Amino acid sequence: MAATDLRGRDFITLMEFDREEVETILDTAHDLKRKWIRGEPHRLLEDKTLFMLFYNRSLRTRNSFEAGMTQLGGHAHFLEPDAVYTPALPGEEKAYSTERISDVARVLAEMGHGIAIRIYGKHTGWRYGKGNLLIREFARWSRIPIINMEDDMYHPCQALADVMVMQEKLGDLRGKKFVMSWAYSGSVEKPLAVPQSAIIGASFFGMDITLAHPKGLDLDPKVLEFTKKNVTKNGGAFKIVHDMDEAFKDAVAVYPKAWTAQPTDGKTPMDPDKAKALFEANRHWITTKEKMELTNDAIYLHCLPADRGMEVTDEVMDGPNSVIIEQAANRLHAQKGLMALIL
Ligand code: CP
Repeated sequence: MAATDLRGRDFITLMEFDREEVETILDTAHDLKRKWIRGEPHRLLEDKTLFMLFYNRSLRTRNSFEAGMTQLGGHAHFLEPDAVYTPALPGEEKAYSTERISDVARVLAEMGHGIAIRIYGKHTGWRYGKGNLLIREFARWSRIPIINMEDDMYHPCQALADVMVMQEKLGDLRGKKFVMSWAYSGSVEKPLAVPQSAIIGASFFGMDITLAHPKGLDLDPKVLEFTKKNVTKNGGAFKIVHDMDEAFKDAVAVYPKAWTAQPTDGKTPMDPDKAKALFEANRHWITTKEKMELTNDAIYLHCLPADRGMEVTDEVMDGPNSVIIEQAANRLHAQKGLMALIL
């Protein structure tokens, strides 16, 4: 692979990258992290501009992109959704409150070097895939790279940080048991993006992946199919179980978090009452010290924010095996690696 192969690429899902490309992004991220620790300048994107359009709230994503661009010598603009015309698809425009995505993308592309977007949940009418469709519409019209900062299907930047922290803590990931598990939450609104991207990310590295969730909380069949094929290609394994204790046995990395009960046909919106009932029937899917004792001294991952007392106990969140802060910190380094290569 030529060093410039990634320049100009959109980053919407890791499914559109191959193993060598994902490894290159992560190698660059580890390298830039070492430079950051040593205090060495690494202004690889001097005078470059990233536009960030957030429909949904954020702590980690916004600040890691903004700080990352500053450290690389560039600048990130935060576009307040209420202060710009809402980007719209043809036929979905409203006079003087929306602007067609083709116009927004082409205008911003004349002024900077990358456009990053976050959109999911109520902003998509809870129709699975609509957020991803809007991001792809930006990509269709923009001549500068589009970065997915989380849509209703994928959170690929989070997946880079997830793999990165596992590499730091576990070394070579081949054959290591990684559990992506559903967990109970008082909110039924968390998208499928994180678990889907986490299993996709792990599938490039030969991991022994277990996906655990109660029946009715299935992930997108397209993602499951990709993960199965990718582990076959990369020497790993993938299975689905419906019991949290069974999943945790012998794991060396566990990543339990809530995701919504979301039909993935793209037509049926989420039914909040049905989702709530399913969630309440599964309140016991909480990560406790006793559950962690079933593992092989596993590290505990969470993308954050986590619902303490629902998804996980304080004892585990703040315990010796928790890597959540380093995982969050790696958002900065992973995205710097990504931006240095694609912008
Ligand atoms: N994990 C994550 O994306 O965090 P934010 O919602 O704070 O950006």
